[in-house]
Amino acid sequence: MTAVVPQPDAQIRIRQAERADLLAVARIEQSSFSQPWSFEIFEQFLTSPGFLVAEDGHILGYVVADTTTTHTGTVGHIKDIAVHESYRGNGIGSALLTRGLGVLDGSVDTVKLEVRESNDTALSLYHEHGFRYARRIPGYYGDGEDALVLVREH
Ligand SMILES: CC(C)(COP(=O)(O)OP(=O)(O)OC[C@H]1O[C@@H](n2cnc3c(N)ncnc32)[C@H](O)[C@@H]1OP(=O)(O)O)[C@@H](O)C(=O)NCCC(=O)NCCS
Repeated sequence: MTAVVPQPDAQIRIRQAERADLLAVARIEQSSFSQPWSFEIFEQFLTSPGFLVAEDGHILGYVVADTTTTHTGTVGHIKDIAVHESYRGNGIGSALLTRGLGVLDGSVDTVKLEVRESNDTALSLYHEHGFRYARRIPGYYGDGEDALVLVREH
């Protein structure tokens, strides 16, 4: 397989995900998480306006922003976000999060997400975007790690 080499000068654009993107998205997912979403899960979000990819010809990252309805009402939910490891630290994750939150504009008052308590990089990104700690879910992840639920008033 050909390695993807970072090209900082390339034009990066963010757009809604298409079927042709799914393999690359699933590959980034697999290399980013110990319990990755399957190809089929991404497939289910193809019609969701909050499933966005960043690309410069290659898929560099993605976000899945959607709504979740609970007994207390409907809230926005950042369900997944990752950037290809060769491209991290270039503002792509931040841009994806901004656009994903933009898709939710007007439809919800609150956006939530779950994050591993050890994921300092993601925690820093989320804090910069106005997310604040709401509660802890003990043993949320398959390896027993706790999730922190972060919430942002929209
Ligand atoms: C989290 C992730 C999406 C961030 O994407 P990214 O493109 O690297 O992020 P950005 O370059 O836009 O950086 C945004 C912020 O993230 C934080 N950040 C990025 N790289 C960091 C690092 N190496 N260490 C600490 N914080 C970091 C900083 O707060 C940064 O803001 P700053 O540039 O103003 O300091 C990326 O690291 C990733 O894919 N991680 C693996 C998957 C994952 O953990 N997803 C989140 C699940 S909850």
